[in-house]
Amino acid sequence: MPSVLIKTYGCQMNERDTEQVASMFLAGGYELTDDEAAADIILINTCSVREKAELKALGKMGLLCSRPTAKPHVVYGFMGCMSQSRAHSLFRDIARLDVVTGTHQYHRVYELCNRLLRSRLGMNITEPIARGAHICSVQGEEGFQNKIKDHLPNPAGCSAFISIMQGCDMHCSYCIVPSTRGEECSRPAADILAEARELVSGGVKEITLLGQIVNRYGKDEPLVGGRSAFVRLLEALCEIDGLERLRFTSPHPIGFREDLVRAYTYLPKLCSHIHFPMQSGSDRILQLMRRPYKHEKYERLCAAMREARPDLAITTDIIVGFPGETDEDFRLTVEAVERIQFDNAFVFQYSPRRDTPAAVMDAQICLRVKEERNHALLEVVNRIATARNHALVGTVQSILVEGPSKNNPLRLQGRTSQNKPVMIPTGSASIGSIVPVHITECTGFTLYGDVQA
Ligand code: SAH
Ligand code: SF4
Ligand code: F3S
Repeated sequence: MPSVLIKTYGCQMNERDTEQVASMFLAGGYELTDDEAAADIILINTCSVREKAELKALGKMGLLCSRPTAKPHVVYGFMGCMSQSRAHSLFRDIARLDVVTGTHQYHRVYELCNRLLRSRLGMNITEPIARGAHICSVQGEEGFQNKIKDHLPNPAGCSAFISIMQGCDMHCSYCIVPSTRGEECSRPAADILAEARELVSGGVKEITLLGQIVNRYGKDEPLVGGRSAFVRLLEALCEIDGLERLRFTSPHPIGFREDLVRAYTYLPKLCSHIHFPMQSGSDRILQLMRRPYKHEKYERLCAAMREARPDLAITTDIIVGFPGETDEDFRLTVEAVERIQFDNAFVFQYSPRRDTPAAVMDAQICLRVKEERNHALLEVVNRIATARNHALVGTVQSILVEGPSKNNPLRLQGRTSQNKPVMIPTGSASIGSIVPVHITECTGFTLYGDVQA
């Protein structure tokens, strides 16, 4: 049986896309492997959001392609965002590379790679591919968003992602995503509901809806009873019997209206966690970032959501060292973090991306200042996050038990509705169940506890 190895860099959307590709290989009679020496096809699903992500994928593929021990027929391919933005030029970077497929072409990866492998193995196929041929498939395709719908059969899996929309029309000045993922396009609600029902009937308890600006789902549809297409989708999903938890990521302050805030009051399956990117606490920087709202609106939304759902955990993304960011702008960001009290935050150093307006702005910030700000902000973020986790010691939290802990086989790992990881003793609950856990301890970001009788 031929085997395929797929490595994924990037966001949850990429993980989801990888799953689609993997399930097509399984259906085609391949097995999935982690063994680099055994794989007949090696694919890397790539991310372009920061330079580091690209370097990581290029470095890894370079190493894989130069292994002297590799079987000569192995097919090497890049998929996803870096493929989309660098396309043909990747063949110059890595001579041994065979296939480059873009973000609208995930549904073709299996067919292209399979054909190439069979050609190389001299198998009888109708259209053999010449040795040394480069396959580059990065064209846009209408309706591609409806083709990311297959899931891996995973009997222990209790949590799944569903991509409900693709692309982004916002064009933040620092961001490459609109050019790698294309324009916003949403899937029909009926398809999403059918996918969710099927997952739930297979044992899934928790679904996370994915989109670059997930709350702009169906943005062209009219409001019904004051509720957007996104809120109506949340409502419909919450009605599925057997679905216990619903999450979504990432929302944006634009299009985040009262109806979505209110959803937290009447949809108990909607989890008490939101990952809500802030980017900066300075209006001047938000404007340079082309984020079309004032920071005050962001804080107002956080407060309104916490009023609707008092135990809501809020996590965020923040960029430090955006061009022109002064000490004063940075101070506003730190103060915002102190006021909002995030449960956690990803802090990113600004990374100039090709063909984005911010990359050519004056007043680029030097690496040393970026690093200093990154370090200073992380200290604040970590202090607040740790304090918020410690405050949970002594409480009882419902956790969805996901499986064995990666670090300690004597523990099971689950997550609270607030998305915090909790360790419990092995054997104290079954995988896929939701159990009340008395939190007894907290180290850094991990909670420990015992299942209540
Ligand atoms: N669509 C999501 C974000 C996707 S990218 C949203 O808008 O909410 C994830 C995060 O990467 C962003 O929130 C931002 O903080 C960060 N990011 C994007 N471009 C970046 C860049 N050029 N340099 C550093 N961080 C960046
Ligand atoms: Fe990038 Fe901004 Fe779109 Fe998010 S909203 S994907 S940060 S352009
Ligand atoms: Fe990266 Fe593409 Fe996701 S650039 S963050 S993998 S949408």
